[in-house]
Amino acid sequence: MWRVKSLDAILATAEKKSLHRSLGPVQLTLLGVGAIIGTGIFVLTAAAAQKAGPGMMWSFVIAGAVCAFAALCYSELASMVPVSGSAYTYSYAVMGELLAWMVGWALILEYAVAASAVSAGWSGYFLGLIENALGFQWPELLRQGPAWSMNGWMPVADFSHGIVNVPAIVVALAVTSLLVVGTTESATVNAALVAIKVTALTVFIALALPVLKTGNFSPFAPNGWFGPAGTTGMGIVGAAASIFFAYVGFDAVSTAAEETKNPQRNVPIDLIGSLGICTFFYLLVAAGAIGAMGAQPVLGADGSAVQPGSAAFVAACALPANADVLVCSNEALAHVLRQINFPVIGNLLGLAANLALPSVILMMIYGQTRIFFVMARDGLLPEKLASIHPKFKTPHIVTMVTGVFVAIAAAFFPVGQLADISNSGTLFAFFMVSIAVMVLRVKDPNRPRPFKTPLIWVVAPVAMVGCAVLYFNLPVEAMAVLPIWGAIGLVIYFAYGYRKSHVGRGVTEVPELSPDAPAGPVPPMPGAPAPGSKEERD
Ligand code: ALA
Repeated sequence: MWRVKSLDAILATAEKKSLHRSLGPVQLTLLGVGAIIGTGIFVLTAAAAQKAGPGMMWSFVIAGAVCAFAALCYSELASMVPVSGSAYTYSYAVMGELLAWMVGWALILEYAVAASAVSAGWSGYFLGLIENALGFQWPELLRQGPAWSMNGWMPVADFSHGIVNVPAIVVALAVTSLLVVGTTESATVNAALVAIKVTALTVFIALALPVLKTGNFSPFAPNGWFGPAGTTGMGIVGAAASIFFAYVGFDAVSTAAEETKNPQRNVPIDLIGSLGICTFFYLLVAAGAIGAMGAQPVLGADGSAVQPGSAAFVAACALPANADVLVCSNEALAHVLRQINFPVIGNLLGLAANLALPSVILMMIYGQTRIFFVMARDGLLPEKLASIHPKFKTPHIVTMVTGVFVAIAAAFFPVGQLADISNSGTLFAFFMVSIAVMVLRVKDPNRPRPFKTPLIWVVAPVAMVGCAVLYFNLPVEAMAVLPIWGAIGLVIYFAYGYRKSHVGRGVTEVPELSPDAPAGPVPPMPGAPAPGSKEERD
């Protein structure tokens, strides 16, 4: 189980059945920004405010910094091993099959649960838009799933404010259907959607910053750095652990390394470039939201700090006095604009979110199927699971399984809790990548490194510590999901992957001619130019 897949074997396999190299640097940056900007900034700004108050400005800085350090580690590996599979592939080469499997398994949390979170986030904007622009009242109990709380170790669902999030199911299944029939987004559509998102954020900043009141920044940190005693996942650092979600997605770009022209140069530039662009916007948006309408948390019935999405929080938000506060809004940015007297522009921002967020869902589900694809290529998952549809040429089975899972989670869990669970898997993967980059420096010092992480012995440990600190500041329920999920993964590995692994069985080649082999043609990355198209030649 400590067997590794040698880097040379990985690169040789990739060379033989490599996907088409069609992505240039601009397209790659657009893909990055397209995957990053989403529910995090549009929706979870409210949850971050509930945890940290105006101090969430620091939360954005902390989460962005941890991602930047992790991105520097990703970049070195992505430039050395420019093949699909991201953290899973790097771990396979460096730390052995078992840990690679665990990373791949954690990436399911990252991608699939993130897709659920974005679907639930989309739902908030959809409902806000139809209610504010069309005056249509959606049935109360079909707008969101139940509120969850813990009774000891038992999760308890409270259905009094919601049973199921119907719009989230619809959007998740609609995106899944697109991926099944192979309708991936063209590069032009991706660029247009990125433009819509960036324009929406720019307009928000331009309207909110001028009405900023400095008084709205105090008290600056009502829940301190780590939240009041007895709470988990609160305070500035707790909010950073949640808002980390807003930056997730840059690593999805490294999964496109196998499809990138000159990956050695373009992948690092893109990862760090797209992260920088997003951090800049996020800080201005956060300042605008806080300054324009205040961002103080609501309190539980007993005056205590309450976790967003919890039953106590939902009850506090149902009070008439809290009807208009930022932290209770499901469409934070549109809500701010309506509150500062720009109702039409608020609706347009809602429309922009409705148009653009499905592409984030698409990217996440796509990233998930690509990880499954590579794991099946290595024999750790059944090849059947990743078989290609004869007509659509898509990995339809794995896409449908993923889509149903995504829709169910989106239907019954609040967006903030889904994002926290997704973060627990992502933080684990980033942590392992930071270890992998150091191990490889020691084990294989002479292999060419087109991009070398600067100050590796500082940067990688800081990334590791940053990931660990954020993980341990997630709410306890989200923290608990990772070990439970990991235990299930271990059982599956020893029951299946351990025996079937290609490396373990000495198989170095995937049978390419088998119609079921997952090495068949798959559609290009969403947002990538089609092979042979004019966009590609440009
Ligand atoms: N970063 C992505 C988002 O915020 C996942 O929606």
